[in-house]
Amino acid sequence: MKILAIDTSCDETSVAVTDKLTVLSNVLWSQASMHAQFGGVYPSLAKRAHEERIDWVLTQALKKSKIKIEDLDAIAATQGPGLAIALEVGIQKAKELAIKYNKQLIPVNHVEGHLLSVFARPKIFNGQFSVIQKQPQFPAMALVASGKHTDLIYIEKVGKYKVVASTIDDALGEALDKGARMLGLGYPGGPILEKLAKGINPNSYKLPIPLAGQKERFDFSYSGLKTAMYRVVESQKPLTKERIQNLAASFQNTAFKHVENLTKIALSKYKVKQLWFGGGVSANIELRSRLRQISKDHFIPLLIPYAKRLCTDNAAMIGVAAFLNNPKKLKNKKEIENLERVPRLKLN
Ligand code: KG4
Ligand code: ZN
Repeated sequence: MKILAIDTSCDETSVAVTDKLTVLSNVLWSQASMHAQFGGVYPSLAKRAHEERIDWVLTQALKKSKIKIEDLDAIAATQGPGLAIALEVGIQKAKELAIKYNKQLIPVNHVEGHLLSVFARPKIFNGQFSVIQKQPQFPAMALVASGKHTDLIYIEKVGKYKVVASTIDDALGEALDKGARMLGLGYPGGPILEKLAKGINPNSYKLPIPLAGQKERFDFSYSGLKTAMYRVVESQKPLTKERIQNLAASFQNTAFKHVENLTKIALSKYKVKQLWFGGGVSANIELRSRLRQISKDHFIPLLIPYAKRLCTDNAAMIGVAAFLNNPKKLKNKKEIENLERVPRLKLN
């Protein structure tokens, strides 16, 4: 099943061609540098950039895949969640293509894309992961951690999800971005903190692990840590390179400890056969290794996307999700035209 997938939910304009689980092409044009000055995504700028870039990205994705648009089985697009006016650009393009080339249109939930991204396969298999391990086993637990989501999701089967813990304020990626901003670093902050923290003592500053004293609470929360970080950063000014590194390592460590605590609780509460880890923060080597240890302790494998570009926003995961779960295939023109973006789309 050959799918052309589009994701414009945030600040990446991305188009991919997938064949079942195999990624034939996955082209994206990031706007991160454009939004860096705002320390986050500026919606109207994002919309305009998507509009300007989508045709080029689409052409590249088709060219790289060596698939003709006529030979596709379906078009898929992110319906939500995401920035309304940004989502709109991808959905419009998907509708236009579906109608023009008489293809079915599959709307996809962006979070489900991150969740199922662990099953994507590269075109040329280079032995980097075990195909056997990449078979889904149910029930499974997924951690999706990105700039907008921090969810632990219990998966009975593909399409049957229960969010068992979620953030009550900031998402993990968002917290890392804000922490980096306090230190005067760039955007997105997650990968910058990761680089700075490498090999640095993660305990030089004491920061409060979120909700550590409230064992019965099963929520993510980053606002308290953010406030504590702000105070410490202010007290350490003027910031030297050494202080910045120590603060980066301590902040990242504390933010991750919270994830470790909740993941351990989730794996004790729910007997699952696999732990899946997706979303932008799943690109982080340190957090991967901590989660790998936790899954080992529970005798289950940790599944992560095969490449970092499959962790952060991309259209390939949308194609894979459209293949694995497509209860809504829009076929006739009227149905396709009526598809609307859902900025706050929930799983299920
Ligand atoms: O999945 P994603 O690209 O977009 C959303 O759906 O939000 O995630 C973006 C987030 C940003 O907050 C970014 O700082 C974080 O993922 N991120 C990372 C790393 N790469 C991206 N966080 C920690 N370590 C990384 N290597
Ligand atoms: Zn995302």
